[in-house]
Amino acid sequence: MRAGPRAPLTLEPEELRRLGHRVVDAIVAHWEDVEGAPPIRTGDAAALRSAVGGPPPDGPGDPDAALDRLLDEVLPFMQHGDHPRFFARIGSPSNPVSALADALAAGLNVFAGSWAGGSGPATVELTVIDWLRGWCGLPEGTGGILVSGGSVASLTALAAARAARPHATTAVVSDQTHASVTRALRLLGVEVRTLASEGSRLRPEDLDLDDGVLCVVATAGTTNTGAVDPLEEIAERCLAHGVWLHVDGAYGAPAVLTERGRTLLRGLERADSVVLDPHKWLFQPYEAGCALVRHPGALEAAFSMLPEYLRDVSVSAGDEVSFRDRGPQLSRGSRALKLWLSLHTFGLDAFRAAIDRGIDLAERAQCAIEASEELETVTPAQLGIVTFAPRSGDAGELADRVVADGFAAPSSTVLEGRTVMRMCTINPRTTDDDIERTIARIAELAG
Ligand SMILES: Cc1ncc(COP(=O)(O)O)c(C=O)c1O
Repeated sequence: MRAGPRAPLTLEPEELRRLGHRVVDAIVAHWEDVEGAPPIRTGDAAALRSAVGGPPPDGPGDPDAALDRLLDEVLPFMQHGDHPRFFARIGSPSNPVSALADALAAGLNVFAGSWAGGSGPATVELTVIDWLRGWCGLPEGTGGILVSGGSVASLTALAAARAARPHATTAVVSDQTHASVTRALRLLGVEVRTLASEGSRLRPEDLDLDDGVLCVVATAGTTNTGAVDPLEEIAERCLAHGVWLHVDGAYGAPAVLTERGRTLLRGLERADSVVLDPHKWLFQPYEAGCALVRHPGALEAAFSMLPEYLRDVSVSAGDEVSFRDRGPQLSRGSRALKLWLSLHTFGLDAFRAAIDRGIDLAERAQCAIEASEELETVTPAQLGIVTFAPRSGDAGELADRVVADGFAAPSSTVLEGRTVMRMCTINPRTTDDDIERTIARIAELAG
């Protein structure tokens, strides 16, 4: 801190340290007792507004009291994607070491927009991207960038496809393609042709790839059922017609780190672009998504701008990457520190085992469903997702009842016109007992 009277908008070092310790204590308390609260708690709008609404004070306030309000009256009201019985949609099992890395990134206001302004953080990001690239089997030279999540990652990668093939105007997707991809295509002004899936998978023989087709979007782990499109056959067809293959592996692609996942995801390495979300099955806190684009320079061709006011920070060569040239953000923080620190802390084997565990847990859930008289399996366990339904009654209403009950949080969806329940079991801290008791509770509430 500068000597003399306190600088604007700072606290005295001792006070800041004490407040910081309270924040760290809150993070550790969360990790010690994630199960202390239901997996999902939705607040009352009026009560929440009265807790935090209104104008800010003109004069200084008490940071401890304000922090207490956040901790006690606000933050309990959300979904805890890292709760061991959060099975809804796709969880975010996260890890506390990465949370500390995020605190560090914010605390040091890390800048990762240009090489000149952030060569250290850029090198960490290049390193991490190279890990992800290698795991997916993409060649050296593949470009990549970390963004907020799968939605922006698809937007980024598809913008590169659009720039590479400006004459083509149509994307072929399946009825199981994630809505974020369809939205990205809409934003890019690309027409969407949707094919009916079979068993949640695209049928390669349905791909009619005329000249106007910009890309085929395949999914490596659908949100509904965990199905993987036949990537090899689709890649074959795309290659034959010079069409870009975009693979949305937002939740499923990290399974490539396991033997079972590698088999299921064969062909991933042939994609022109791949999206995967470290904030899902790579156990990072929000926000972390990654776009990988096989063709060197393709991201830059879509995003690089060189205005005169950036000329001082525009010179770079070889490995000196300015990430503002690879995506939609100029000012950007580092999403790479958390991946780097957590992998260096736990090691890759622990990540492999944690992903394997998620695959096992869905199989365990399926066994419990099949042993239950009240429930039946709809789609078998695939990449950590199983879908099922009560033998009588409405699956959507049952899912609502289970969430309100507070013990566990599955979710519901619709498959071929039928409402079903689903569990996504990618949290490695979920125990076998969590699974058994969750299925027993669902069966009880179904009865
Ligand atoms: C297959 C798939 N793609 C894309 C997304 C969107 O990712 P994000 O929520 O990180 O933007 C999801 C989210 O669950 C997903 O499951």
